Amino acid sequence: MLVNPVDTSSTPIGVFDSGAGGLSVVAAIRAALPTQAIVYFADTAFAPYGARSDREILERTQLCCSRLLDRGVAALVIACNTATANAIDELRAWAPVPVVGVEPGLKPAAAVTRNGVVGVLATRATLSSRRYRELLHKVSSQAPQVRFVDHAAHGWVELVESGELDSVHTRTLVRQAVQALLDEGADTLVLGCTHYPFLRRAIEAVAGTASLIETGPAVARELQRRLPRPPAPSSATDGDLLQFESSGDREQFAALAAILLAVADGGKRSHTERGVQRQR
Ligand code: DGL
Repeated sequence: MLVNPVDTSSTPIGVFDSGAGGLSVVAAIRAALPTQAIVYFADTAFAPYGARSDREILERTQLCCSRLLDRGVAALVIACNTATANAIDELRAWAPVPVVGVEPGLKPAAAVTRNGVVGVLATRATLSSRRYRELLHKVSSQAPQVRFVDHAAHGWVELVESGELDSVHTRTLVRQAVQALLDEGADTLVLGCTHYPFLRRAIEAVAGTASLIETGPAVARELQRRLPRPPAPSSATDGDLLQFESSGDREQFAALAAILLAVADGGKRSHTERGVQRQR
């Protein structure tokens, strides 16, 4: 009997974030796997997660990921440092598919720094998590010559969620946090939250020659390794390959996603998404 090969481009993966930040990871996944279908869930009704309790973050992440599993996804990408830090172990024990998380790029930063001082920008919930402390301990013991300093970047997630990527207010908030790390001597800055790459222009305006470390491409490579099958070639359009679900306002998220993906891709694709669904 002949069995038709499965067109895995129609078997989506699920990507989750508290809001729109995970779209920076989606951009990297689409660059690495252009025919991979993706369902993206934004928990915008409960974003930001950065100041929420460990328990709330775990409960919301599990609830949103169960929506993605209902869609039959082949793998889950937790495109949120805060949710990864607080929920990845439980998700891996619970989900019936591979689960890929994202964590601040301390290791690549240790390899890149020239003066041995690395600044880490992340949410308060990420920086205070046990998982982050363990990562810091591990990388510090591998690279004892490197000093890590961190800063909880106040208000940055909200800036991205409101699409305010380059205003005077944005530059003020970005300057405060980046300058604090530059004053500590950092020549390398880790963007330890998936929202922050969308503020790259404002960050670079303050950071000058400091290296910026983001982790979207590493997550895409890890996903490639973990996918049960590589996606098949596909003639599907962007709108078929990328669908959104949100716990918050449907039109608002769709409009924001289109802008942010265009920013992430430098305008290389057109992002006419379909299927934005409100779910709680
Ligand atoms: N994108 C999430 C992260 O990577 C943002 C967390 C939040 O909602 O505060 O941490």
